Amino acid sequence: MRRKSFICRPLALVLLKIFHYSGSIAQHFAHLHASTGFVPTMGALHQGHLDLVTRARAENTHVLVSIFVNPAQFNNPEDLKKYPRTLLADLEKLRDAGAYAVYLPLPADLYPSTLAQVSLNLHPLDSAFESRFRPGHFEGVVKVLHRFFSVVQPAHAYFGLKDLQQCLVVEKLVDAFFPQINLHLCPTTREPDGLAMSSRNMRLGPEARSHAPEIYRQLQWLCRNLPLFGTNREITVQALATHGIETEYLDWVNLPDLNPAETPGGRQAILFAGYLQGVRLIDNVLINP
Ligand code: PAF
Repeated sequence: MRRKSFICRPLALVLLKIFHYSGSIAQHFAHLHASTGFVPTMGALHQGHLDLVTRARAENTHVLVSIFVNPAQFNNPEDLKKYPRTLLADLEKLRDAGAYAVYLPLPADLYPSTLAQVSLNLHPLDSAFESRFRPGHFEGVVKVLHRFFSVVQPAHAYFGLKDLQQCLVVEKLVDAFFPQINLHLCPTTREPDGLAMSSRNMRLGPEARSHAPEIYRQLQWLCRNLPLFGTNREITVQALATHGIETEYLDWVNLPDLNPAETPGGRQAILFAGYLQGVRLIDNVLINP
């Protein structure tokens, strides 16, 4: 085993291409686009990201991963400052996962002053849940993804369903501007105790980390008792509070519009956002996916 990794690692490192400029990446991928799977990330990579890379590898000849902590999607400068940055470890993980190339954009190149604003109607996603608590967030996501998709022109793009509302926004973006891209919305990767993998989890201390799985436990319980959601929601909020988890929103919704669900049926989800030890965590369970 040791011997195998000794031989393979340097070879993989040489093979992992790194791009900083939109011009060079567009040129490189222009003739590869039919076989390129794209995984956009903000780094601090965990197994959830690597699962997207693995899936993309199975479906494409070349996998490109972007790492860019996109200032345009942070409404809170403190949150942007605290966002974990682990570039060297990320590159190593991507190399080991078999990515073909990494895009590390330079802000001035990604967002030149001449860049036209993207006009996309996000209604009704622009006033609910994440949009309510993080004003301007999805406009920032749309801005960066529109630019990435225009530059890379991938055949396939991969996103994790943990960020369910983001997935619905990306669906709108792809429908409106990039119908040629095959969008893959992939299941949430969880820790063995059920906690949804997130780059923010690394900011939890050991005590908080031991309470965090309660979120998914409660979501599953709510899901098993949907007709009693109204009453059970209050019980869950109290139960989470005893674990130090402060609920921001917890709602049962219809997809894709995220309007409140009242009776079981069709594609639905339960959405959660809250704070544990000052760290904002989100999760969801899909019903009839
Ligand atoms: O989900 C994320 O990590 C980001 O929102 C994304 C899609 C990479 C855009 O910056």
